[in-house]
Formats: sequence, structure tokens, C-alpha cells
Amino acid sequence: MSTQAVGVEHVLGRLSEIPPGEGRAYAVAGRQVAVFRLRDGTVRALDAVCPHRGGPLADGQTDADVVVCPLHAHVFDLSTGACRSGQDDVASYAVRVEEGLVVVVLPGTSGSADRTG
Ligand code: FES
Repeated sequence: MSTQAVGVEHVLGRLSEIPPGEGRAYAVAGRQVAVFRLRDGTVRALDAVCPHRGGPLADGQTDADVVVCPLHAHVFDLSTGACRSGQDDVASYAVRVEEGLVVVVLPGTSGSADRTG
């Protein structure tokens, strides 16, 4: 039994562009996505804009589980995007490294009508 996430893959760049333990923001498909390279060699991806006052989450301090916004120190779970300090959550995205390239999966339209109004 497996759940297939619907989404569109985007190659963001080389993993080697991100120092271990740090994050980097990428503009992709109209979003700002922050990719974090953890010291254990794995990667995480969240929305790059802090929901508190728009701080740059890619510039925050990370540990194995969380990133701390550099502006007012709200704390976000790197795996789920859940805020651990009472603000709104941020979106988290599936991300992996393939042949040295960072590949993120953003939500796709999956063919359904996108209606407004
Ligand atoms: S802008 Fe991120 S904590 Fe205030």
C-alpha cells in the first residue's frame, strides 16, 4: 500500500551550492522554496517566507528537526512545516537529491479545474 503524491518535480540546483547545516531559497513556479541541507546529509524543503512577518527562513539556524526564523525566532518543524511557537504553519515539500541535484516536488493541478470567482 503506497500513497502517490500528486505533484510536479522541479530541479532547483546542485546540492553542493548549499553548505551543510544551512539553507538556501529558490524561486520556483511562483513560490519561494527554502531547501535545507542537514548535517546528516538529508534535505528538507519548506516555504521560504515566514508567516509571522515574512522573514527569510532559508537564513535561519537549523538543527536536525527545526529551523529558527532569523527575525523573531519562531520555530518551524523541518519535516512538516508545523510552527512550534504558535504562529501559522508553513508548507513543506517532498525533496530529494538525485545525482547531486536537488529535486523538489510542488503540488500540481492534477488536471482538475482551477476555478476562481
Ligand atoms: S518574521 Fe519570522 S519570526 Fe517574525
